[in-house]
This record gives sequence, C-alpha cells and structure tokens, in this order.
Amino acid sequence: MGERENSMGRRLTRRGLLAGGAAAAAAAACAPVSAVPAARGAAAGPAPLPGGDAVEPFHGVHQAGIATPPQTFGVFAGFDLRPGTDRAALIRLMRLLTDDARRLTRGEPALADTDAELALLPARLTVTFGFGAGLFEAAGAEGLAPKPLRAFKGDALQPRWSGGDLLLQVCADDRVTLAHALRVLVKDARSFATVRWTQHGFRQSPQVRAPGTTQRNLMGQLDGTVNPTPGSPDFERAVWVRDGWLRGGSTLVLRRIRMDLEKWDAADRTAKEFSVGRRLDNGAPLTGQAETDEPDFAALGPSGLPVISEFAHIRRVRTADPGQRILRRAYNYEDGLSPEGRPDAGLLFASYQADVDRQFVPIQARMAEMDLLNQWITAIGSAVFAVPPGCAADGWIGETLLS
Ligand code: HEM
Repeated sequence: MGERENSMGRRLTRRGLLAGGAAAAAAAACAPVSAVPAARGAAAGPAPLPGGDAVEPFHGVHQAGIATPPQTFGVFAGFDLRPGTDRAALIRLMRLLTDDARRLTRGEPALADTDAELALLPARLTVTFGFGAGLFEAAGAEGLAPKPLRAFKGDALQPRWSGGDLLLQVCADDRVTLAHALRVLVKDARSFATVRWTQHGFRQSPQVRAPGTTQRNLMGQLDGTVNPTPGSPDFERAVWVRDGWLRGGSTLVLRRIRMDLEKWDAADRTAKEFSVGRRLDNGAPLTGQAETDEPDFAALGPSGLPVISEFAHIRRVRTADPGQRILRRAYNYEDGLSPEGRPDAGLLFASYQADVDRQFVPIQARMAEMDLLNQWITAIGSAVFAVPPGCAADGWIGETLLS
C-alpha cells in the first residue's frame, strides 16, 4: 500500500522508510521528539493514498528537486541574510534547515513542529537549497560566489522578484504539505534571514496528465519537449558541476517571466505557432507530425521562406552542443487578477545547468536579441544561485562550502 516509484526508479513510501533500514539510519541522525509518536498514532487512521505517501529521498550525491520529476506545486523563497549572520551562524542555519528538511521529506514532523499532523503526507516533498552572492560574502568566500546576470534587452526587472542571499525551492504534489513545509522552514530561518520574495508555481497534476508527458504552460503551448532526460549522459553533463566545492551541485537561474495573455489572446493560431515553431495541439515542429519529430530548419514553404522562421523561439534557443544544454524545470504562476480582470500570470522559468556563463547566458542572449515570443513575454525577476551538492545522512547541505 502506498508504494510508488521515485525519481531514482526505486519504490519508496513513508511507511516503508519508517519500517525499513532507512529508518534506522534516520533515527540515528535525528533525536526523537515528542510530537513524532503522537503524530504517527494519528497516521494510523485511514491509510494515505499512494501519491500522499510517496517519498523522494533527501540524501545523496545531488540535492533532490533537480532531477526529480517536477511535482505539481513549487514555491521559490528568496531570503536576505540579517546583518551579523556570519559563517558560524550560517553553519547553524544550514544544519537546522537540513535537519528539518530531511524529516519533512520523509513525512515526519520537524523538530519543533507545532502542527505535526500536517507533516505526515510527504507527497514527494523536496527541499532544495541555493546560495546567492550575499551568502558567500557573509561566509568570507566572495571568490566562489556566482556572478549576477548582466542586463538583457527587454528585461524589466523588479527588485521585489530579484536577487536573494539564500534560496529555498520547495516542491510537492500536495499544496497543504508544501504550505506546511515552507512555514516550518521559514521559522527556522527567521532569526538569520528575512524573506525577500516568495514565488508560487503550479503544473498540471499527475491526475490529469500522465507523468513523463509534456506539460502545457499558460499560453497553451506544450513546454518541456526538448529537455535533457535525468540519468542520461546529456543530463549529467548539462546539470552537475564536476569539481571544486560545488562538485555534485549545480547552478539555478530563476527568471520570473510575465505573459501578456490578453495580447496573446488577440493573436491568431498561425501567428502563435509561427512564433515558437511548433504546433499548439500536439507540440510537433511546424515541419513534422509528432511532438518528438526533429525540426527541419532547412525546409522552405511555398513562398520560399523557411517554414520555421529564423526568429522562432525553438530556433533561437536551440543549441547543437550537448554540453551547452540547460535543464528547464519551470512552473506556471498566476497571482490573481487586476481590477479589469487581467491575470498576473507567467512562468517561473527555473534553469539548472553546471555553468551559467557557458550554458544559460548564450541562450538567453540569443533570445533577448531576437525571438518572436518576446512580443508576449517580459522578464520581471531574476536571480542566480549556486546549488550545493546533496549530503549524507549525517551531513548537512552546504558543508563543502562552509565547514
Ligand atoms: C515565458 C517564457 C517562455 C515560454 C512561454 C517558452 C516556451 C517554449 C516552448 C513552447 C518551447 C517548445 C517546446 C519545448 O521544447 O519545450 C520551448 C523550448 C525551449 N525554450 Fe522556451 N520558453 C520561454 C522562455 C525561455 C527562456 C528564458 C529560455 C532560456 C533562456 C528558453 C529556452 C528554451 C529551450 C532551450 C528550448 C528547447 C529548444 C530546442 O532545442 O528545441 N525558453 N520554450
């Protein structure tokens, strides 16, 4: 009961973890707290459905939440460190956050959990930490800090959606689980840092779209067709850093990209498909029949012009070099309506790559220079983080930088 394959192809559930060998290791790493037995007692009631009970492993060479198949809900929270949060304080903070993240992702209450029952459905919860430039400064390691992105044509960046010293990316298939995990982790961070921004996103859930099939974004496009496959050599090369303190880690560029959906509504289907170079119904390239067909950029239409415009999105952002690919792990956002009923909507474009300058920047530069999609989209937020490697059961996230 309650079994499900996780991203590594193993079948893990909260119950399995509590009963099996992993529980012994986990127990050794965590002091028992009074909330846990009480909460476990409560869980003896109705058995959770498989989706609620599913666990993504927290420990490992890499942090979870990158190669993990994207969960239905995601929140990105950016923090500013409080003055005086030095390296010793950062070590305390990261130990605390790691400890609670490992409990919550297993479906166990956090150390000082005031609502222990809310922790019992892990729903593939992952917590992924990122370090911004300010954290390196506070740690006295400025030389290792990720460089901020340069300004790109068309950007309309707002400080309220940009920057940040510390990032928490929290994802789960259940919105209640996610809200609880975020609340607990923010409480942990409170005396060390203030919240700079939170950005909530969502995707189509596994109940409506089979896992592994491509999602639709809020412009109605199939978004995510060409993306490195976790476990493939392409993925390993594109995503993970191979040396230094960040070995096994990655970097994250998070762009908040607003969509002008009213203007998009006014465009006809041909113009919409032409701007991307793919069909809206099945995501096939304009030169093909099926989503996975290779686009033929040399094909000409009856007028002698390319079928897929030179300025179509998939042509501008495509790269032939597998070492320059990025992993797109995006979430839609929709933050309500203006008084006139216009949605504040778009994409939380999360790009993971081993090297921002070598991989993300050239793609972004080509897109900023010219891309038909730019008529309807504007980047209004931007942040870059180093994403440390994962840790062992007795370790903590960030130890390769801070300890
Ligand atoms: C709201 C903003 C954006 C929208 C709506 C959007 C939409 C799409 C769509 C519909 C596709 C085709 C299907 C697919 O392969 O996923 C695509 C592909 C792609 N996009 Fe975007 N995109 C956006 C922003 C960006 C940004 C900022 C970048 C990078 C700087 C980017 C990089 C890519 C890449 C690398 C591909 C795959 C291209 C290929 O090799 O075929 N996109 N995007």
